Amino acid sequence: MKSRNVVRLLLMLVIVLASQTVKAVNVIPRPVKMVENGQVFTIKSDMKIVYSAGLKEQAELLESALSPATGWDLEIVESKKIKDKAIFLKLDKNLELSKEGYTLKVTNKKIVIAAKESAGIFYGIQSLLQLLPVEIYNKQRQKNIAWNIPGVEIEDTPTYKWRGMMLDVSRYFFEKEYVIRFIDMMAMYKLNVLHFHLIDDSGWRLEIKKYPKLTSIGAWSGEGEKRHGGFYTQEDIKEIVAHASARNVDVIPEIEIPAHTLSAIAAYPHLSCEEKQLKVPEQHFISRDLYCVGKESTFEFLEDVFEETFALFPSSYIHIGGDEARYDRWAKCPHCQARMKEQGLNHEKQLQVYFNKRIQKMVGKHGKTIVGWDEIIEDGLTEKSVGMVWHDKKKAISGIKAGHDIVMALTGHCYFDVAESKIPGEIKAATWLAPISLQKAYEWDPMIEGIAEENRKQVLGGNGCLWSDQFIHGTILQRLAPINENRAEQYMDYLAFPRMAALAEVCWTPLKLRNWNQFEQNMRTHYNRYDQAGYGYRVPQPKLISKKEVKGGFEISLENVVAGAEVRYATDGIPANVHSTVYTKPVFVKRLSDFQAISVVSRQQYSLPLYFAQKYDEFKKYGKMVSQWRPKDITGKVFADFEMNATGKINKNGTYELSFLYTDGTYRLDIESVTLYKNGKQITEDVHAGFTGGSSENNTYVLSVKEYETGAAFTIKAKVRGDQGKDSYGLVFIKMK
Ligand code: ACM
Ligand code: ZN
Repeated sequence: MKSRNVVRLLLMLVIVLASQTVKAVNVIPRPVKMVENGQVFTIKSDMKIVYSAGLKEQAELLESALSPATGWDLEIVESKKIKDKAIFLKLDKNLELSKEGYTLKVTNKKIVIAAKESAGIFYGIQSLLQLLPVEIYNKQRQKNIAWNIPGVEIEDTPTYKWRGMMLDVSRYFFEKEYVIRFIDMMAMYKLNVLHFHLIDDSGWRLEIKKYPKLTSIGAWSGEGEKRHGGFYTQEDIKEIVAHASARNVDVIPEIEIPAHTLSAIAAYPHLSCEEKQLKVPEQHFISRDLYCVGKESTFEFLEDVFEETFALFPSSYIHIGGDEARYDRWAKCPHCQARMKEQGLNHEKQLQVYFNKRIQKMVGKHGKTIVGWDEIIEDGLTEKSVGMVWHDKKKAISGIKAGHDIVMALTGHCYFDVAESKIPGEIKAATWLAPISLQKAYEWDPMIEGIAEENRKQVLGGNGCLWSDQFIHGTILQRLAPINENRAEQYMDYLAFPRMAALAEVCWTPLKLRNWNQFEQNMRTHYNRYDQAGYGYRVPQPKLISKKEVKGGFEISLENVVAGAEVRYATDGIPANVHSTVYTKPVFVKRLSDFQAISVVSRQQYSLPLYFAQKYDEFKKYGKMVSQWRPKDITGKVFADFEMNATGKINKNGTYELSFLYTDGTYRLDIESVTLYKNGKQITEDVHAGFTGGSSENNTYVLSVKEYETGAAFTIKAKVRGDQGKDSYGLVFIKMK
């Protein structure tokens, strides 16, 4: 062998070995500047964490992050002189970085994280953890792992100062432990605002000592076995806030005003206009009862509530809600009407502005600024505040013009209580908005195009929202196919991850460095991190690379997008499952509609299917699809039942037409009769001979429903057969006559 070939071989061996021991760099959010230097640092049990004055807490956080998986308690020392191989945390006031910025340098010899303030050090640590093998997130000791870190030089700083997540603990009460875990999930991605939706119609969750009924009454709904709820004691809040602040997370409490306050009104009826004794609702709805603006006692109450709130939350912001107020009560209330007269106001909308102004003055004495949903920055609030824009960019533009700061929380990109897809089997999340895919959560920017340069700083950042109203909504928590547990926390994790990672990159990484394909690529090992940390998440479907038309069918190429997972597929029209064939190379399939593929992380953890929906455009006039038949669904010569689930398709009394429509095959489908059952009992039938295939004749069946009942199960059985052979495919549609 020539020596040049030997060198080449050795070089290849080195590359192969290196790629096995040092993983690719895929930090999320993507750092502003990052260069790999080809070196490797290995953390060993005898290494020290060396910190400069003021960083003891960060050094301890790093130590406690490394300890469970490595099984080591690295020594922490404050020093300037250490020269050993070590991890150094350094405060440097002269760095030209923002207060959240940091540098991270990894070489063969040492790791140095430097920043102006401890927030930056914390973020350097988060990037460092993401450079380590994914097992570092495990809470159990991981044996036989080389804790290698690829050599990099990172200089990083966030684009936006507000990188928030809202957690709705009112509609569903999450225990303190979950809130703390949620803060960890945020901090992993350098999100820095927990917008804590503590108050809403369905529950008051914050202990206020002066008003004990807020939590003894306002935190609970239902009776007997159905009683549920809960609240955070002031001690709980202190713990949550301390945990957050060590991780540079600002906890902003939301004390809703004036609407979404039924929980407070149920506890203290005099806060409302009508002063009726109302109950904390068991089901989500938006109450028309709100705080009375006419009575001074309302302001006294709020002053007291704020005083106790501010003693717990050091944030310079207070969120006052302000959304969705309906004015029916104010319009009829003598106190509110007298207030309007006194103030010379001619619309209740202006009464809300008056309310907000007084609240701004009240909280201003405590050095706080109000944040509210975009309703508060309309209609002439002059005091500078922060509008959280959920409606549209127009609201942002008018808010900016009026001098307010804004945070973008657009429903179309930020409402993570909406499902990611409409794939059958997807969890039933909020349904009032279109799905927000991971890509949709990624592909937007908080900056408002076209605003003047000097106004850009008024755009503070973005805020994801996890409302919990849609899953208490009179329903039980739903079964999550990929999770198989009904626990609310799993449900929230599923909605949050991975979209929270997308939000983090939206808010951190400059737009010009953001790229969906790169992000999706970087995400692939992050699912492994969630597995290691025990966080729930939505497993993404395999990625479709191509579907080429070839002789007699299609060739489908896929890519696995979850590191370490398998892609499994089926080509026979039945759902792919954890036992289906493992995908290794492009697959041939006769019909696209017969193909399905899933990502399988484990037997319990797998994705919804990637599949090709039939194009129904040509059949639209026949109504909605009820079912489809394939060769396996029909017999050859004798008529036999073909059963279809029509629940939801039969949705009121009336006359329905059911049509059989041939799509593929050589032998036609013969139909003898169609029968409709309600809860298993026959209610009507249409017996006549029909067929479809080649041409179709008498292939529509008429079913007259007079006994419709909400919640009843409707089933249709058709007697069908293949004429001569049974190779046909087709669709069954239903419509109201
Ligand atoms: C909201 O979604 N009502 C802010
Ligand atoms: Zn009133």
